Amino acid sequence: MGKKIFSGVQPTGNLHLGNYLGAIKNFVKLNNESENECVFCVVDLHAITVNQDPKDLRNNIRETVAAFVASGIDPKKNIIFNQSQVSAHSETAWILSCVARMGWLNRMTQFKEKAGKDKEKASVGLYSYPVLMAADILLYDTTHVPVGDDQKQHLELCRDIAQKFNNDFKVEDFFKIPEPLIQKEFSRIMSLKDGTKKMSKSDPSDLSRINLTDDKDQIVNKIKKAKTDPLPLPSNIMDLEKRPEAKNLIGIYASLTNSNLEKSINEFSGKNFSEFKDNLSQVLVDKIIPISEEIKKLLIEEKYLDEILLNGFEKADKIASKKVKKIHEIIGF
Ligand code: AMP
Ligand code: TRP
Repeated sequence: MGKKIFSGVQPTGNLHLGNYLGAIKNFVKLNNESENECVFCVVDLHAITVNQDPKDLRNNIRETVAAFVASGIDPKKNIIFNQSQVSAHSETAWILSCVARMGWLNRMTQFKEKAGKDKEKASVGLYSYPVLMAADILLYDTTHVPVGDDQKQHLELCRDIAQKFNNDFKVEDFFKIPEPLIQKEFSRIMSLKDGTKKMSKSDPSDLSRINLTDDKDQIVNKIKKAKTDPLPLPSNIMDLEKRPEAKNLIGIYASLTNSNLEKSINEFSGKNFSEFKDNLSQVLVDKIIPISEEIKKLLIEEKYLDEILLNGFEKADKIASKKVKKIHEIIGF
């Protein structure tokens, strides 16, 4: 039987190699398996948990759709839509926030990281963010959720919320319990400037990430400047453990060439970084430039992108509002 896939990406700009290798590449693979039903959501309600400039947000929504399509997601076969257009998401998030427990949310490490030292000043939305994410997933009877490693804890919370709702209201199987789809290797791509930090849209240094809209010169320059260490490349995986930058760069190479760490280490063992970096730049350029050029082409076609979203909205809204109606009945509204 096919899988029911749901995943989301925030329209917060600077879509990068981590988003691509950790998530979008997997979306493309799943969308190519014809028995799957896939829903990909541009999660703008999640984006506003931190300040967003309205004009940038609007552009970033279109850019995220363009990145999906440019990477190989077929908008005819799959649902691509914008979260805020389907009101069932906000509504269900409220209901599920009455199911989720404070103690569960207090454990979320992403909130702690994003709120930083001054938690009092974080938005309430940033705190309840994973509840909205649970609503996204559960409204579509999702069976599998492809995400990067950083979303694992949020998925566990989603499963707990679904189970508690089913138990509390004695509606076994009403919410399907979704499985995470997290790649074994390369589920966490690190910053090019610090191998212990996640590659991130919000890193102030553009040199820390490869953006999906970078051109060839930018990619080559960023890899040239990527942090390394003075040793030649090792001959086994164990020797990578204390060398986070080397491990990350070899991981990126392995993922882009659909290989694995072990094979990629064997390919470059004993070589110095400059030779390895030339190869890495080449595979990056081969993979990212066609996507980058296609994104730029699509961004000019605003009407086409908006049509994809409108089409996706109609399909998503039908599924989600049906589920909300049943939720109302169960609760006693
Ligand atoms: P976001 O940009 O936070 O909406 O993330 C979109 C998707 O990309 C999610 O599935 C994340 O888990 C994934 N992702 C974000 N950053 C990385 C990273 N550095 N490495 C791997 N996956 C990532
Ligand atoms: N929280 C996810 C992230 O920042 C994005 C997201 C929102 C999501 N809703 C989702 C991912 C539902 C998977 C399923 O990366």
